[in-house]
Amino acid sequence: MTAISGFSSPEEKEQYVHSLFSRIAGCYDTMNKIMSFNLDTAWRKAAAVKTGVLPGDAVLDCCCGTGALTSQLLSLVGEKGRVVGIDFCKEMLSRARENCPGAHYVEGNVLDMPFPDNSFDASVMGFALRNVRDPIKAFKEMARVVKPGGKVVILDLSRPSLPVFKQLFRLYVNHIIPFLGARKSGFTDPYKYLAHSIFLLPPPGEILDSMAQASLKDTNMQEMTGGAVVLFWGTAT
Ligand SMILES: C[S@@+](CC[C@H](N)C(=O)[O-])C[C@H]1O[C@@H](n2cnc3c(N)ncnc32)[C@H](O)[C@@H]1O
Repeated sequence: MTAISGFSSPEEKEQYVHSLFSRIAGCYDTMNKIMSFNLDTAWRKAAAVKTGVLPGDAVLDCCCGTGALTSQLLSLVGEKGRVVGIDFCKEMLSRARENCPGAHYVEGNVLDMPFPDNSFDASVMGFALRNVRDPIKAFKEMARVVKPGGKVVILDLSRPSLPVFKQLFRLYVNHIIPFLGARKSGFTDPYKYLAHSIFLLPPPGEILDSMAQASLKDTNMQEMTGGAVVLFWGTAT
């Protein structure tokens, strides 16, 4: 499957995303550092802090990938806390187990998670919203497993609106990232899809509306790096 734009169904998109991450798991972390000019750690740290978790808390990292955000969460909850990462891609999870062995990992789909209601103090998802087949369902699941009053936090790339930066960003995402991705991973389509998917995300206001539809209250957002990245959050009810 090599389609990068336009899937015939949400299920086809999900299958493509699954196969894509299986293929790029080995170069995912290095590519993130290169593509983000090393800013990705600071973006994930902001998301981890926004969860409001404290030492001893339990927190869920949805679509945990190679564990980059998982390890930030672990440093916040400490040894007495519990961090669970869930992802549907075995190859990404096996990297997570190496990179952040202190967390627990579950292979599964975030649209149907095997956790009881109210079992975490917060849940978070980093750089995966673009890839999830049904974002509102994902928000509902993330809210369901969090105790009332706990935070649900979403971090993803976005589209800057500042003139000049907006054009440069588009050029970088559409041309440089696919070129670097192909050199590093050996596959041409994954980084074309990942770049293209940034332009398919609904505007931030619509994402906030979807979070409210999932019964999250006090939803809000914060742009980072000139709007190239956005952090969304809401409170479980
Ligand atoms: C761009 S990576 C983000 C990984 C990590 N959160 C980070 O900050 O680097 C997206 C991850 O989402 C996972 N994923 C996408 N859709 C999923 C779903 N429906 N259920 C579980 N994992 C999913 C992929 O396997 C991949 O590991």
